[in-house]
Amino acid sequence: MHAVVLTAHGGPEGLVVRDDQPIPSAGSGQVRVAVSASSVNNTDIWAREGAYGAPGNPAAIAGWRGVPLTFPRIQGIDAVGHIDSVGAGLDDSLLDRRVLVDPAIRGNPEEPDEITGVLGSEIDGAFAEYLVVDAGSVHDVSQSPLTDAQLGCLPTAYGTAMGMLDRAEISPGARVLITGASGGVGMAAVQLAAALGAEVLAVSTSAHVAELHDSGASAVVDREEDVEAQLRSLAPDGVEAVIDVVGGDLFDLWPSILATYGRIVVAGAVAGPVVSVDLRQLYLRQRRIIGSTMHTQRQFERLVDLANSGAVDPLIAARFPLADMAEAQNYFLKKSEMGKVVVEVRRGPK
Ligand SMILES: NC(=O)c1ccc[n+]([C@@H]2O[C@H](COP(=O)([O-])OP(=O)(O)OC[C@H]3O[C@@H](n4cnc5c(N)ncnc54)[C@H](OP(=O)(O)O)[C@@H]3O)[C@@H](O)[C@H]2O)c1
Repeated sequence: MHAVVLTAHGGPEGLVVRDDQPIPSAGSGQVRVAVSASSVNNTDIWAREGAYGAPGNPAAIAGWRGVPLTFPRIQGIDAVGHIDSVGAGLDDSLLDRRVLVDPAIRGNPEEPDEITGVLGSEIDGAFAEYLVVDAGSVHDVSQSPLTDAQLGCLPTAYGTAMGMLDRAEISPGARVLITGASGGVGMAAVQLAAALGAEVLAVSTSAHVAELHDSGASAVVDREEDVEAQLRSLAPDGVEAVIDVVGGDLFDLWPSILATYGRIVVAGAVAGPVVSVDLRQLYLRQRRIIGSTMHTQRQFERLVDLANSGAVDPLIAARFPLADMAEAQNYFLKKSEMGKVVVEVRRGPK
């Protein structure tokens, strides 16, 4: 089969396009998915570079679990496609269903929501014509009005955003501040929070005001201007929650702009992972900081429901064929356009 195979940690030269990869077989309780689309995420690049570090050794070359990946590895965390083969114990009625793959592997029966592996990292992923996963990882999206390219944008960015909003306990009418709003997770959070009926204040730059309003933001806070002054006027009573994937210097401000009982949910730190927090701002007003990684099964099911009802509308910045993976990742890193970078896997008309 056609696939992009990662041969070693390092630069894009480690990504090798091949047409002779063996087609995997579905084992007992597994399905094989003929992949039609995927998208580029930070984790594909960090995992390729081995940039995650290890506990106690931030400079270690490692994947997200703190150890190097096993090579060769087919990356690709987001996947949509059709079931083309089922393993022993599964019903043939599953064949041909259009499915979205939950990329989180939950292998600890004692802790059913614990993520022990990820598609494209611990097992082969979507940068190939076929992948194999447990049947419980696929969700029927036959009814969704979204295209395969749009569905391929959802699992990681929208799943992570869904997990963050759920952990922030966002309810209709809540005022929520979302950072990194033009990025993959941030834009997903803007759309999902708006779909949940929240009032969204998006932190971004002046370049993205129009798209963020179109995505459901009530107001855009320009992070290159005086953020505190803008928030004093936009949210004089504070916000119920901050959804943050950026960290860095601005983080210092977030505890003080929360209403009493407010929540900050963090899932990333593109502007810097080490921040300072005035603890008095937390304990005197019963505020909380909550760490969040990806999504639970229930949160992913809620995302699938929204995909099936067409309540989300992922914005696509660019599309690349699978063979142009290195160019797709370079384009993603340049951040010139807002929206997801789609990887078209199935060849021929869609
Ligand atoms: N925990 C998890 O499960 C999980 C899952 C997915 C991603 N993540 C993490 O979440 C973070 C965001 O991921 P993403 O895919 O949304 O990233 P992305 O598409 O690269 O977007 C990041 C956004 O952050 C904003 N930003 C603010 N300050 C920045 C700076 N100094 N440098 C670069 N960007 C800056 C930019 O948006 P504006 O210009 O609009 O401000 C940028 O578009 C990453 O750290 C990623 O590793 C975590």
